[in-house]
Amino acid sequence: MAVDVELVRKNFHAISPKVDEVMETFFATLFLRYPDVALLFDGVNMQQQHRMLANVLVFVVENLDAMEIASGTLEEMGRRHINYGAEPEHYPAMGECLLHALATVTGEDWNDELESQWAEVYAAISASMIRGAEKATETSATS
Ligand code: HEM
Repeated sequence: MAVDVELVRKNFHAISPKVDEVMETFFATLFLRYPDVALLFDGVNMQQQHRMLANVLVFVVENLDAMEIASGTLEEMGRRHINYGAEPEHYPAMGECLLHALATVTGEDWNDELESQWAEVYAAISASMIRGAEKATETSATS
């Protein structure tokens, strides 16, 4: 299924002024539901983390109609995430918490369509990041 670019952009622009709330809800949900994954953020500057994650979302939403361009950057990010201790099985937890945060901040305008479109967007992000990590592991295994 292709992403409904306009729908996702419209929602993202509507909640952009509340991006801090999205990030706070996202990490609060992650810490509550997935304390094991949250442990990996120990010692990380969370203000900075909020900003960097928000920037990735802006970047992805801007490039929704050119995900092949965004995928190189996301692969690089995934490669760096090996050093942060991120494993492929952590990605669904992050996605669940992100969708929960988007839904919470969107409020009554949230619906099944937005849920499935954002799930699609996150699936593309995580697939690229995991691919980047895998490529890096393969390269280091063969060199
Ligand atoms: C799958 C589980 C994930 C874990 C455990 C994780 C963990 C971390 C950690 C520990 C850092 C390091 C911060 C520091 O040392 O200052 C980091 C950085 C970062 N994370 Fe994640 N992350 C995950 C997934 C994601 C996803 C899905 C995104 C984007 C949608 C993302 C975006 C970023 C960005 C933009 C940075 C800044 C540094 C960089 O780009 O390398 N992370 N992450």
